[in-house]
Amino acid sequence: MSLNIPFKYIKPFFHALDPETAHQVTIQSLKHGLSPHIPSIKDDRLKIKLWNLNFENPVGLSAGFDKNAEVITPILNMGFGFTEVGTVTPEPQDGNPRPRVFRDVKNQAVINRMGFPNKGINVFKQNVRTFKKNKNRPTGNVGLNIGMNKDQTNPANDYTYLIKQLGSLADYYAINISSPNTPGLRNLQDRDHLMPLINSIKQARKAHCDPDNPPPILVKLAPDLTNEQQQELAQTALDSGIDGLILTNTTLDRPDFLAKKFGDQKGGLSGNPVKDKSTEIIGNFYQLTKGQIPIIGVGGIASGADAYDKIKAGASLVQIYSALVFHGPELVSQINHDLVKFIEQDNFNHILEAVGTAHR
Ligand SMILES: Cc1cc2nc3c(=O)[nH]c(=O)nc-3n(C[C@H](O)[C@H](O)[C@H](O)COP(=O)(O)O)c2cc1C
Repeated sequence: MSLNIPFKYIKPFFHALDPETAHQVTIQSLKHGLSPHIPSIKDDRLKIKLWNLNFENPVGLSAGFDKNAEVITPILNMGFGFTEVGTVTPEPQDGNPRPRVFRDVKNQAVINRMGFPNKGINVFKQNVRTFKKNKNRPTGNVGLNIGMNKDQTNPANDYTYLIKQLGSLADYYAINISSPNTPGLRNLQDRDHLMPLINSIKQARKAHCDPDNPPPILVKLAPDLTNEQQQELAQTALDSGIDGLILTNTTLDRPDFLAKKFGDQKGGLSGNPVKDKSTEIIGNFYQLTKGQIPIIGVGGIASGADAYDKIKAGASLVQIYSALVFHGPELVSQINHDLVKFIEQDNFNHILEAVGTAHR
C-alpha cells in the first residue's frame, strides 16, 4: 500500500514527538506499508556507473536511518538511487541512554549521540538477504555500513567478522570509523591504524566475497580533521587501495549561532551547520587524491543546489539524512529534478561531467 500524503501535513505530528520516537514511528509505518511511492526519476543524464554498480540517480539515503535494514524496499520506492543501511555491529547493543537525538528546527540541524543501537548482525543479515531474494525488489543499490561494538578492543575483529557474515550481500561496504559516539572509533582515522585495518578488511573480502564481483570498500570519515590529517588520510586512501570515500559523518563543532540548550548536547551535529565544512573536506580530498578515488558527498544537503555544490566539489554520488526530518521524502525527487536543471544550465551532457569542476 502506498500513502502519498504531502509531508507538510504530517510534519506537525512528527515534530510534536521526541525525535527518536518520530523516527521509530516512521520506521514502523514504512515497515507496515504506510509509505509514499514516489517514482524514481528516469533521466539518462543522472544514471551513473561507478565501481561495478549502476545507479539510477546519484541521491542516496545516508547511514543511521535504517540501522537494521528493515525498510530497504520502501526507501528505494521513494526515488532514492541507493540506500546505506547500518551501522551494524556484530552483537546487538542498546546504545546510549535516551534522550539521545535532538532537533533544531530554526537551524535545520540535528545532534545525535545514539552510540550504534542496533539489533546485531543476525537480524541485519536476514533483512538484507530477504530483500536480495525478492525477485520484485525495486532497483537501487544497498551499501552495508559496518562498525564495531562498544566494548571491542580489537576493531579489525569486528569489521572482518561482519564481512565474513555478510559476504557478497553488500553492493558496497561502508567502513564507519567516524561516528563520534563510540569511544576510540575516530582514533582509527590515522595511517598507523587505518592501513592494517584496511588490509584485514581486504583479506576478509577476498576470503568471503564473490571473487568475480567483489563489493567496493568505502571508508567514511569525520569532518573534524586538520589539514595534516586530511593529507595523511588521502595518501593512506591511495596507498591502501580502498575504492571510495564517504565524506562526511557528523561534526563535534558547535557554531556560535546554535541556541545554548541545543548546542550543549553531546554528540554529532548534522544538517545545515555541517554543510559547508563537509563540502570543503570533499573538495580537499578530491584535490589531494587527484580525483582518483570516488567520493560520496554527505552533510547538510537540503536542496538540489546543495547536492550540486557537493558534486562540483568532487562527489560522484550524494546522500541525505537530516534534511528529511525537515523536508520529507519529496526532497529526493526535488533534488534530482534540480540536478538536471543545473547540468543543463552548465551545458553538461551528464552529471559526472560536473564532478570536481569547482577546482578547474
Ligand atoms: C540520528 C542520526 C543517526 C546516525 N547514525 C549513523 C550511523 O549509524 N552510521 C553512520 O555512518 N552515520 C550515521 N549518521 C550520520 C549520517 O549518515 C550523515 O553522515 C550525517 O548526518 C551528515 O548528513 P546530514 O547532514 O544529511 O544528516 C547519523 C546521523 C543522524 C542524524
